[in-house]
Amino acid sequence: MGALESQIKMMDMLAASEEAISRLYAVYADKFAEHKDFWAGLSVEELDHARWIREVEDKMKDEISYFDWTRISGDSIETFIDYVDGQAAKAKAKPVLASEAFFIANDIENSMIENKWFEACKGDSLTFQRLVFDLGQATARHREQLSKFSNMSKKGDS
Ligand SMILES: [Fe+2]
Repeated sequence: MGALESQIKMMDMLAASEEAISRLYAVYADKFAEHKDFWAGLSVEELDHARWIREVEDKMKDEISYFDWTRISGDSIETFIDYVDGQAAKAKAKPVLASEAFFIANDIENSMIENKWFEACKGDSLTFQRLVFDLGQATARHREQLSKFSNMSKKGDS
């Protein structure tokens, strides 16, 4: 696989991971009537993140050597997507506490940040740098909102 092809594949996987998170949050929106708007809002925003990635991906086809993706491996994105899909399947199959959902979602957003998915490498194109910066900011915002809800729901669980 050529360099551009493998970069595009990584972008596909990154977009797929945002879409997996969106699906999980949609399941939570269905499950928790009292937090429906919150989860549905996050779910839509995750689709926005996937769209941002695909927009940059389209531009990549005109440029070579777009970014130096040493920050993350394809295998770890696959493992991540499997985990997120697994949580969605679990939430569909059996009862989940609201506090548990907040914890899992917070953990998901946190792991993307801690594993430095959204930190640019030296030599990355400016378009790519801007994309990962925006994704990093948006992910940190979600983590913040989730930890706020997580703390609130600790006392009165449903
Ligand atoms: Fe996201």
